[in-house]
Amino acid sequence: MNTREAAFLLLFEVEKKKFSGMDSLMEKFHQKLENEKDRALFVELVHGVLRYKNLIDYYINFVAKKGVKDKKILNILRVATYELLFLEKIPEYATVNEACEIANRISPYLKAFVNAILRNIIRNKNQIEESLERIKDVDYKSYISIKLSYPRFLIDYLEESYGLEKALKILEFLNTKPPQSIKINTKKIDLNTLAQELEKKQFKYEINSHNNEIIHVLKGNIKETELYKEGYFYFQDLASSLVVKLNQEDFKRAKKVIDLCAAPGGKTFNCAEVIDGFVVACDVNERKLNILRENILRLGFDNIIVAKSDAEVFNPDFVEKFDIVIADLPCTGFGAIRKKPDIKWNKSYQDIDNLHELQIRILDNAASYLKRGGLLFYSTCTLGRKENEETVLKFLDKHKDFSLVSQTTIFPDEFKCDGFFISKLRKEGER
Ligand SMILES: C[S@@+](CC[C@H](N)C(=O)[O-])C[C@H]1O[C@@H](n2cnc3c(N)ncnc32)[C@H](O)[C@@H]1O
Repeated sequence: MNTREAAFLLLFEVEKKKFSGMDSLMEKFHQKLENEKDRALFVELVHGVLRYKNLIDYYINFVAKKGVKDKKILNILRVATYELLFLEKIPEYATVNEACEIANRISPYLKAFVNAILRNIIRNKNQIEESLERIKDVDYKSYISIKLSYPRFLIDYLEESYGLEKALKILEFLNTKPPQSIKINTKKIDLNTLAQELEKKQFKYEINSHNNEIIHVLKGNIKETELYKEGYFYFQDLASSLVVKLNQEDFKRAKKVIDLCAAPGGKTFNCAEVIDGFVVACDVNERKLNILRENILRLGFDNIIVAKSDAEVFNPDFVEKFDIVIADLPCTGFGAIRKKPDIKWNKSYQDIDNLHELQIRILDNAASYLKRGGLLFYSTCTLGRKENEETVLKFLDKHKDFSLVSQTTIFPDEFKCDGFFISKLRKEGER
C-alpha cells in the first residue's frame, strides 16, 4: 500500500470514530507498508495531521470557501497540506501529484478539485498566514486553538489549572516529537556497558540528566536489535520512571507491593528492579496483560506475580496485605499528547469528570489494600487539576487515616518529557 494512502485511510477511520484503539489501528496499517522508511513517513504524516489539524483545516477552508464535505477528500487534502506546510524536503509538485493520483482513484472530478485546492494553498500561503495573524489581535485563544491546534476546552481547562502563560508553554511543548526513551534494566546491564553497545551499533543517544537510567535514542529503530531481545531495556518515558526513582528508599524497604493498573509494566519493572520482595502486577485488560507477561520473560524478572483483576472491584484477599500500593490510574492522558496526538481530539470535559470519579472509586479500594503505615502512590499521565490535585483532595476528605506526604506535577516543558502527576500518601500507623 502507498504510504500517503495508508495515512489518509487511517485518518478517515479516526474521523468516523470506527476504531477500537489508536495503537491497534496504527499497527493494522503498519503491516501493510513495505519498509521502515515508509513506516516512518506514515507515522510522521498521521501524527503531523493530528498535531496540527486545526491549522491545516484553516488553510484548506481558506481556499475551499464552502468547506470540504467529503471526509475522504478532506483527509487526502489534510495529508498533502501537512506536507506542504511542514515537510520541506518533499517537493511541492510531488505532494500535489501524489494527492491527485489518490483522489483520481475515487473520481476524476475529485482529482481536479484536489489539484485546485492544493495549488491555491501554495499560491496563497502568505495571505493565509497574514489572515491568521489578524485573528490574534481580535480573539487570542481562538488564534491559539488554530495555530497550536488544540480544542478550545483544553486551552481553557489548562488555563484554569495553571494560568494562560504556563498553559501555552505546555501546549507548545506537547506539539514536539518525542525521542524513543528507554529505561536500562539494571538487573541485566549497567549504564556504561549499554552505552558502549549503543555506540558499537552507531545509535545516536543522550543520557537523561534527571535519571541516568533513562536514555533517549535519537535515531534508529532500537526495538529491532539484539539488545532489546536480550532484555537490556524497556521503553519508558522519564516522567513515568520518576514514581520509583524519586522514592527509591521507600521501595527498597518494601516487601510486598501491588500495582493495580500495571500494563504494559513500566512502574512494575522499576519496582521489581529495586525491591527485596515481590510485586503483584494487576490489570483488567487481557491483551495488555499478555504484553506485560512477554516483557517479564524478556527482561528476566522472577519477582513479579501477574493477576487479571479489575481495580474497581473490591478484592477482600488483598486487604491490608501490602506495604506499597501503586495506583497509576486511567486518565485523559493529556501529558502524553506528544506520543498520542489523537488524544487532542477524542477527549472532552465529560471524560475528565468521568475519569475523576473512576479514580476515586479505585483509590477507595487501594486504601484498604495497604498495611497500616503503608504508602499509596497515586499517579496519572495527565495535566489539569481535576484528575490530579482534586482527586487527591477528595480521597483525603474520605480517608481521614491518610495524610499527604508529597505531591509533584511534572511539567513537560520544564522536564522535556511527558506531563505527569505523582502523589505520595501515607496510611496512619506503624509498619
Ligand atoms: C496508565 S496505564 C498504566 C501504565 C502502567 N502503570 C505502566 O507504568 O506501564 C492504565 C492501565 O489501566 C488499565 N485499567 C483500566 N481500567 C482498569 C481497571 N478497572 N482495573 C485494572 N486495570 C485497569 C488499562 O488496561 C491500562 O493498562
